[in-house]
Amino acid sequence: MKTSIEKSLNDQINAELYSAYLYKSMEMYLHSVDLPGMANWMNVQVQEELAHAEGMMQFINLRDGKVTLAAIEAPKTEWKSAAEVFSDAYDHEVKVTGRIHKLVDLAIKEKDHMFNNFLQWYVAEQVEEEDNSITLARKLKRAGDNVSLLMQVDAECAARTFTAPVIPGTKVGAPTAP
Ligand code: FEO
Repeated sequence: MKTSIEKSLNDQINAELYSAYLYKSMEMYLHSVDLPGMANWMNVQVQEELAHAEGMMQFINLRDGKVTLAAIEAPKTEWKSAAEVFSDAYDHEVKVTGRIHKLVDLAIKEKDHMFNNFLQWYVAEQVEEEDNSITLARKLKRAGDNVSLLMQVDAECAARTFTAPVIPGTKVGAPTAP
């Protein structure tokens, strides 16, 4: 794989690991304000982000590139409310979408069709990533300070479970052989 692609994908691995770190920080904040269901939702999100990073690492290895891990930026640790947490999560996902689109631009510029094909899973995944967080941000904005509505959203978030995403071309989410 070309050096420009290896470097950009390594940067994206760092961004995915930062996403996991940010969502872990949000999870801890939500625990601290006694919203365990929303904290559970964020815990699942952390696992999703780690799977996104793992898929990219496996792709680099498959293409004879080198994964180089770098320092992960410290995340924000305090929020005013759960609504602000999910609004920040949405804003973050929009930024991630922009980064993935730039990687596709690079794949096209470098005529690396394998890389472009690999990235298409991430392009599609971002639709869900943005929708999940904006939906909850809107619900929480509507709930405002209404405790029973907040508890309703918390219970809904408590039901979220992690299922490893299946990332084509990698072993992430692939069923293990019997
Ligand atoms: Fe890895 Fe939330 O996108």
